[in-house]
Amino acid sequence: MHEQRRDVAVDAPAALGELFAARCEQELGRAIGERGAASLVVTGGSAAEVLLPRLVDARIDWARVHVFWSDERAVPADDAQSNYRLVRELWLDPARVPATSVHRMPAEAEDLPAAAAAHERELIAICGEPPGFDVMLLGVGPDGHVASLFPGHPLLAERRKLVAAVEDSPKPPPRRLTLTLPALVGAHLLVVAAFGAAKAAAIAEALGDPASRLPVAQVVRAAERSLVLLDAAAAGRSRGPAR
Ligand code: 6PG
Repeated sequence: MHEQRRDVAVDAPAALGELFAARCEQELGRAIGERGAASLVVTGGSAAEVLLPRLVDARIDWARVHVFWSDERAVPADDAQSNYRLVRELWLDPARVPATSVHRMPAEAEDLPAAAAAHERELIAICGEPPGFDVMLLGVGPDGHVASLFPGHPLLAERRKLVAAVEDSPKPPPRRLTLTLPALVGAHLLVVAAFGAAKAAAIAEALGDPASRLPVAQVVRAAERSLVLLDAAAAGRSRGPAR
């Protein structure tokens, strides 16, 4: 078994953004050098809002980076709630990431399980099985969820599928597509980002309790290398406003 490496950075969001972009340059650059291609998983929410704008000026050949999402809500691609739309506006469009690099989750499909299976085939065709993503960025919910894997949900027991339909997300909207734990845990570098005091309890449990069953705890524990990016409030060091 590999030695695990976990780094925790507590800083202002702008500084965390710089750190994230530098690690992406390093990890994706190395993968491109070794294999001619790299893969990056992104998320929606505040982690995307804070960190992804920093990728616009990063020195990375985006034509060689395959971009996937951790999860997507069952809305059209241009909907205000779409994680794809958010990422496109924050980073893909301003950085001119070519369309051939972008692998949107088709979560607006009527038949969500069929859409999950189709997306899984696309993922395996590009990244192999297990996918071994080079960099995986995940946000964290106040309840400790990551992607659309919620505490206590039966989907946490999934061991075979890499992409799954969710029809009962406690965070609206209820219908979603998500990567599963088997897809999340194989990343070469897991980056977990949390901002705001509302995340402090979940982060404290995930980093401090080796028996925690929270989804964020499970992915951080399983990661070969992880980087946890926290502002002071999420680290429990100040009483910042809950977000
Ligand atoms: C989603 C996200 C989700 C998100 C967390 C944290 O579709 O909601 O992909 O997994 O990362 O819920 O979101 P916030 O940082 O906005 O609280």
